[in-house]
Amino acid sequence: MRKALVIGSRGQIGIELLEMLQYKLGMDNVWGADIHETSTIPNNAGNYSQLNALDKEAMHQLVVEKGITEVYQLAALLSATGEKNPMYAWKLNMEGLLNILEIAKETKIKLFWPSSIAAFGPTTPLDETPQRTIMEPTSVYGISKQAGERWCEYYFLKYGVDVRSIRYPGLIGYKSAPGGGTTDYAVDIFYAAIEKGSYSCFLQPNTALPMMMMDDAIRATIELIEAPIENIQIRGAYNLAGVSFTPAQLANEIKKHIPTFEISYYDDFRQQLADSWPNSIDDTQAQKDWNWKINFPLETLVKTMLSEIKKRIS
Ligand code: SER
Repeated sequence: MRKALVIGSRGQIGIELLEMLQYKLGMDNVWGADIHETSTIPNNAGNYSQLNALDKEAMHQLVVEKGITEVYQLAALLSATGEKNPMYAWKLNMEGLLNILEIAKETKIKLFWPSSIAAFGPTTPLDETPQRTIMEPTSVYGISKQAGERWCEYYFLKYGVDVRSIRYPGLIGYKSAPGGGTTDYAVDIFYAAIEKGSYSCFLQPNTALPMMMMDDAIRATIELIEAPIENIQIRGAYNLAGVSFTPAQLANEIKKHIPTFEISYYDDFRQQLADSWPNSIDDTQAQKDWNWKINFPLETLVKTMLSEIKKRIS
């Protein structure tokens, strides 16, 4: 019997992943945990425990007490917030991972941990970035993701921990908001388009980045965790291509639905982060190992985001 724990269950990915796991495994078999007090969590969110990812004892206790068989450890600071507080980002992102790797070693749970396109850097070949390539990340978030990938692989090789990971592209969804990332513009733009008819973008018009609809990201996560163990050839993290576009291309696609929509651009420190990340990704390894296939091209992504956000706002 599978019992899942999502750490960081109130975050951008956590909210949607929790919902999908509840649907698949049943409400009783899924547990959410996050730093927020229990009293602030909606009643319909299911089982919940307040947890600090830095508190290894509490994490261990939760896993054992609830009979957890798989953990999704999503608690982290993202790229832009990380640059504002590098030491705390390093501490939370690394200790949060090492704590659960140690617990996985002892309890034999399956583990999912997210890596990111931020694990690449300015010296990486930025077009069709291969699975294995030069990785010299320059943000503290990226360094934590690169180091985290190596730690995951280490725990697999040394202790046989069944840990699996994805280098998520920028994630775009309508059920939860991103917080503190460089790719957040690609979510914010939809709310601004609907509510104000215009958007002021912190990345320049021609900044291409790999992005992905949250539905695809959640499906990828679950497909990866359910793939037969012998298929998993990568114990660092899998590349996923998603769909690559620039702010200008996204704005043009939005204009097809809202012809009066206008976009303007301003200079921001996040540009440097975006410039150091891939423009597009090669994900043939994920296709080969666990049959990965994307569902949402740009047109469908934009159409879905606009109609779902409109529904939510009204
Ligand atoms: N979406 C993340 C960020 O922008 C990258 O993983 O920080």
